[in-house]
Amino acid sequence: MSEALKRQAAAMALNEVRSGMRLGLGTGSTARHFVDLLSDKVAAGLDVICVPTSEVTAQQARELNIPLSDLETLDRLDLTVDGADEIDPELNLIKGAGGALLREKIVAAASNAMIVIADGSKLVEALGQFPLPIEVNRFGLGATRHLVEQTMRRHGGTGGIKLRGEAAGAPYQTDGGHLILDAFFGRISAPEALSIDLLNIPGVVQHGLFLHMCSKAFVATPDGVKTLQ
Ligand code: 5RP
Repeated sequence: MSEALKRQAAAMALNEVRSGMRLGLGTGSTARHFVDLLSDKVAAGLDVICVPTSEVTAQQARELNIPLSDLETLDRLDLTVDGADEIDPELNLIKGAGGALLREKIVAAASNAMIVIADGSKLVEALGQFPLPIEVNRFGLGATRHLVEQTMRRHGGTGGIKLRGEAAGAPYQTDGGHLILDAFFGRISAPEALSIDLLNIPGVVQHGLFLHMCSKAFVATPDGVKTLQ
């Protein structure tokens, strides 16, 4: 999907931003467009304070002179705008291809609303075609991986589990210093139950299922940007 369409979705989300808002800034190529567009508004006098969901987004925002804060200084945010890897008809999401799922979920949970911006390829009937990112502690990796695999099989997952970055010779490390297991479910039929079961595994820090968190999505297609809510 073209960058121009992602930018259109980002521009729609920008229309929802008001002066005085405390904003969560997402991570990924679509969120990057939003941050870029936001900086023009900030330069023109829009008064916002933002909490980034990754070091990459923080760096982009700093370079664009967007005022930043954190969730120690602010305990609530008005709105978070972020991308997604899959969006189902209930606006449940898989996120985390960019590795920022933990901070993204903390920021989204601290927000009164979450808007997702994405291209049309992210729309699915059921979550799970995209590998589910699961952030895990380094300690006990083998044991955690075993328990994640058992959980995956109990939930009908048919594919394998990959340690992100392993094939390239160096495991990917998140901003929090953790690792990511990408779990190829195929289809996730009971996302709520899966969420609970994954979080019950001690070595699992967080997973990329964002359930009942997104209130609106702007989805860019060649026919224009659709609003889903
Ligand atoms: C990062 C994410 C991203 O928001 C998600 O991967 C979508 O990225 P993109 O807009 O580049 O498709 O969850 O952890």
